[in-house]
Amino acid sequence: MQFHVTQGDLVHQPVDCLVVNLFEGVSEPGGATGAVDQALDGAIRTLIANGDFVGKADTTALLYTNGKIPAARVLIVGLGQTEKFDAQRVRKAAATAHKALKKLKGAQHYATVIHGAGLAGLDARSAAQAVAEGAVLACYQAPNYKREQPEAGPQQCTVVESDGAKVDAISAGLRAGQSLAEAVCHARDYVSEPPNVLYPEEFARRAQAMAAAVGLTFSVLDEAAMRELGMNILLAVSLGSEREAQLIILEHAPANTQDQPPLVLVGKGITFDTGGISIKPSEGMWLMKDDMGGAAAVVGAMEAIARLNIERRVIGVAVCVENMPDGKAFRPGDILTGITGKSTEIFSTDAEGRLVLADALGYVARYNPMAVVDLATLTGAIGVALGSQAAGLFANNDNVQAALLASAGRTGERLWPMPMYDEYMDAIKSDMAEVKNSGGRAGGVATSAKFIEHFTEGYPWAHLDIAAMVWTDQEKDPATPKGATGYGVRLLVDFVQTFGTA
Ligand code: BES
Ligand code: MN
Ligand code: ZN
Repeated sequence: MQFHVTQGDLVHQPVDCLVVNLFEGVSEPGGATGAVDQALDGAIRTLIANGDFVGKADTTALLYTNGKIPAARVLIVGLGQTEKFDAQRVRKAAATAHKALKKLKGAQHYATVIHGAGLAGLDARSAAQAVAEGAVLACYQAPNYKREQPEAGPQQCTVVESDGAKVDAISAGLRAGQSLAEAVCHARDYVSEPPNVLYPEEFARRAQAMAAAVGLTFSVLDEAAMRELGMNILLAVSLGSEREAQLIILEHAPANTQDQPPLVLVGKGITFDTGGISIKPSEGMWLMKDDMGGAAAVVGAMEAIARLNIERRVIGVAVCVENMPDGKAFRPGDILTGITGKSTEIFSTDAEGRLVLADALGYVARYNPMAVVDLATLTGAIGVALGSQAAGLFANNDNVQAALLASAGRTGERLWPMPMYDEYMDAIKSDMAEVKNSGGRAGGVATSAKFIEHFTEGYPWAHLDIAAMVWTDQEKDPATPKGATGYGVRLLVDFVQTFGTA
């Protein structure tokens, strides 16, 4: 996808299709939509007057121009009610338009205005960013192993702005939106890939290639290195697998930030979760390839952070392991002590996410972090509590929690705060170790978060349980097609841009 911005008027653009917009309830369109309507002798007003298009959110109408203007077609996209208008609406409108164009024959190049710039407190830059995000997110194609590949859809988008003073802001917004959305698509790719293709070492290779392309510092700990550090809890999860565990570390440290205490992002990267000896039922198990959605979000966010040149030090850690049953596998009843010296008794080898995080969160203490945020597809119970409308947010620090909630509001990647009562610790007391790795059904989400908190080392920390967010069985919204969602990338980038700056 290529974006250009040009000063001028939309009506005269020599492209395959023009995209204009309409708020619900408007019968006499103004601005670019009005200009196109006039050039078409009132065709848009006629459409509205007949009730065939009323500007409802995420609806479109198509008109043919019969030589009245250079573009052969005009697509009108609904913006919905003015009172509900925000950046998320712009993103969805751009996505809806892009999807409609994809269904047309030969609509390779379209021209559009920036929907809603100047409205509802949206400046030209953020509106342009939302337009680019929507278009790129809507045209996502998952990796495909069929001999015939699907058609790609529109390749060029010209944004037309009449006010020359806004062109630079729009251009910057488009570039940022495209970088962000492409990183989201890469996160979707990592999650989509089958588990025989994307196992820990392959994930590390892809992260390394990405790091080289965008200028991040890449390093990786293999099993020998982790053994040296005493990361025995993490390594136990890997015992049943033929694949080597990998702790991927990506660092972004622009000039003059090298000495800052970093923000650290940690992602659960179980490239396939069978449950291990506490094996899962076979039905639906294939989807446990998405158990590395936290790691995918962290690697995707680091890509965007580098491309956007964010002025602060950030470290991304992806803790990648395959959880398999085998004669060498760890078992329920085992007691393990990891990098922090804290011990845990295993009740279920299927509660493996909190185990790999225990050692990863112990490891990152060496960075003296300003704050740590982990993302993990940790529990089925979070989906019971919240469905797939929000990820669960657990935090030991009010500032981190408030900043994450603000980022969730701005990006539309929703979070809902969950409790961290000390009493939840009672459920994971163990007779033989400090904690056990499963507290049973009651409060299963909260006890998993308390387990992880036990292994943090004094720094401000938040945990996002994203188990119900990383995959969707059907299109969730116009910018989120069926399959891997890439949830968390935009949220994390916004958090990194804003935490502690206000
Ligand atoms: N990866 C799963 C959680 C999960 C479930 C992710 C459904 C996505 C969809 C995790 O490792 C797991 O198995 N959790 C167990 C914990 C239990 C054994 C304490 C669960 O939620 O059942
Ligand atoms: Mn599991
Ligand atoms: Zn898991």
